Amino acid sequence: MNSTVLVTGGAGYIGSHVCKALAANGFTPVSYDNLCSGNKDHVRWGPLEVGDIRDRARLSQVMKLYRPEAVLHFASLIRVGESVVKPAEYYDNNVFGTFCLLNAARKNGIRDMVFSSSAAVYGMPDTDMIAEGHPLRPVNPYGHTKLAMENMIRDYAAAYGLNYAILRYFNAAGADMSAEIGTAYKVDTHIIPLLMRVACGDMKEIGIFGTDYPSPDGTAIRDYVHVQDLAEAHILALRHIGKGNGRLTLNIGTSAGHSVQDVVDMARRVTKRPIPARTGPRRSGDPHQLVADAAQAGKLLGWKPLYSDLQTIVASAWRWQLRKTALDAGNEDIKYARAI
Ligand SMILES: NC(=O)c1ccc[n+]([C@@H]2O[C@H](COP(=O)([O-])OP(=O)(O)OC[C@H]3O[C@@H](n4cnc5c(N)ncnc54)[C@H](O)[C@@H]3O)[C@@H](O)[C@H]2O)c1
Repeated sequence: MNSTVLVTGGAGYIGSHVCKALAANGFTPVSYDNLCSGNKDHVRWGPLEVGDIRDRARLSQVMKLYRPEAVLHFASLIRVGESVVKPAEYYDNNVFGTFCLLNAARKNGIRDMVFSSSAAVYGMPDTDMIAEGHPLRPVNPYGHTKLAMENMIRDYAAAYGLNYAILRYFNAAGADMSAEIGTAYKVDTHIIPLLMRVACGDMKEIGIFGTDYPSPDGTAIRDYVHVQDLAEAHILALRHIGKGNGRLTLNIGTSAGHSVQDVVDMARRVTKRPIPARTGPRRSGDPHQLVADAAQAGKLLGWKPLYSDLQTIVASAWRWQLRKTALDAGNEDIKYARAI
């Protein structure tokens, strides 16, 4: 396999971690990102081509320039709440964008694609653990766009011979273990980055929505997977489909759940800061539990999470937060790694 791969959304949180893993595995990642949410400083393991996936001419130009063998497709708008009030933007960016990308890939002879899907395609789960065969009933526009993108990829594969790995992530969390990069969101909505911001005094308190769920402490349960483990799943998936084993749809999670309260308690322990919390009612559309049955990823790819225990996840996020705070203050040489 030619080792050049195109990474849409390569300046984003997950995309940048995957680029680091790609480079460590002998690939040259070319990031293609419009920087609407990503950070160009996190593109360090290959070139950055600034562009929008809806810009077909620019996409074709970049594909002709680098001749990538595969596309890893992360570019997406990702905020569930925003998708409810701005569905047009989500369909345009995510669904139309993926349509443009698939056509450009087809025109340029790129046959392999790894796609970032989400547990949001399942909607309200019928079972404690969610396997890939669970019914697909997304409950918000973000989830609808992810399912539409999945279906488009499967249809293109059936008709035009695309090889694909659709990876349905549960909660991506943590940061690069050496704190070189981490979350890059312009607006944080994920619990761990928010907790880190409260811990360092950037925010007053953390909101906990729903304390009457059927879980031991009443808060909602989620499956957190370390972003470096997630990155490794992409390398394995890319190699798997590169051998002609296309058409994979896999959950990427740990098969273990943690309550929101567990995560808050862990953040207090790791950061040694009080982290005030405010409880409120459930948010509509939030399932009480989302935990992957991730056995298939282990069986088919040999994937095994190494960093996804909650303490490692939170500690890596904290190291990154401390470094980011130091960098933002123009003080790169602070001994962030020794702070915990
Ligand atoms: N973070 C999670 O827990 C999670 C869970 C499930 C699925 N996902 C999926 O993983 C992918 C990456 O998510 P993330 O958390 O890294 O988000 P992110 O916002 O950090 O990354 C998305 C990147 O895509 C870029 N982008 C968006 N629209 C674009 C467009 N039209 N053209 C070019 N670039 C564009 C952004 O600038 C950003 O760099 C997304 O597809 C998301 O739906 C994330």
